[in-house]
Amino acid sequence: MSADHTSTLAEGSSPRPPRHIAVIMDGNGRWAKRRGLPRTAGHAAGAESFRRAAKYCRSIGVEYLTVYAFSTENWRRPEDEVAGIMRLLKKYLLEALDDLTAENTRLHFFGDLTPLPPELRKMCLDCAERSKGFTGGQVNICLNYGGRDEIVRAARRWAADGCPALDEDVFSGYLYSAGVPDPDLLIRPGGETRISNYLLWQLAYAEMYFSDVLWPDFDEREIDRAIAAYHSRDRRYGGV
Ligand code: FPP
Repeated sequence: MSADHTSTLAEGSSPRPPRHIAVIMDGNGRWAKRRGLPRTAGHAAGAESFRRAAKYCRSIGVEYLTVYAFSTENWRRPEDEVAGIMRLLKKYLLEALDDLTAENTRLHFFGDLTPLPPELRKMCLDCAERSKGFTGGQVNICLNYGGRDEIVRAARRWAADGCPALDEDVFSGYLYSAGVPDPDLLIRPGGETRISNYLLWQLAYAEMYFSDVLWPDFDEREIDRAIAAYHSRDRRYGGV
């Protein structure tokens, strides 16, 4: 958290923050371009923004933070950009366990990790395993993740289980997000107003917050703004 930022949402004050925030970390490339830097520098700034956001969300009592780090479609990006993102993930994971331990936070991954470089995959599994007993909150990193892909995989796993009696709760149990409450708030910085194949099942009732601010600049104040917008909305879940 920046030293000069005093949250209006300090834990214990009301209203309660959303229990689960999902973020599409968009705008890293444009952030870099505006500064005449390579796109990877934008992703590095984006990774830093993620660390700060995770810390801040935890400090104000958000229980779950889910971020879109790499989609099933992102493999189409230039090889050096993909390699740059993988390097940043490794760097983050090397340092993550200290932060997770200090903040008593679990780390979890949504996505098919098999195509990842083996060393990175091992680091992901290791961090998830070593943090699984932490009870203070959970960060989910979506990695090689696509919403439709997740639903198809869930359906296959359900079929492989012998097609047990199906309802929404049973089906949810086959998703990467099994056991995690649905996001209350989706934040998409970077000026686009689409979902981009993100958490298609889980976002059914989420409030959407779109902002023109680019992700590397999306600081604690911007998070407060998103949460204030969320609080100003009337969630009826199909009721009146
Ligand atoms: C979208 O911005 C961002 C990505 C596809 C990559 C996000 C990855 C990171 C922030 C780094 C690693 C993550 C962690 C969790 C350590 P864009 O490149 O599409 O931006 P643009 O629309 O401005 O081009």
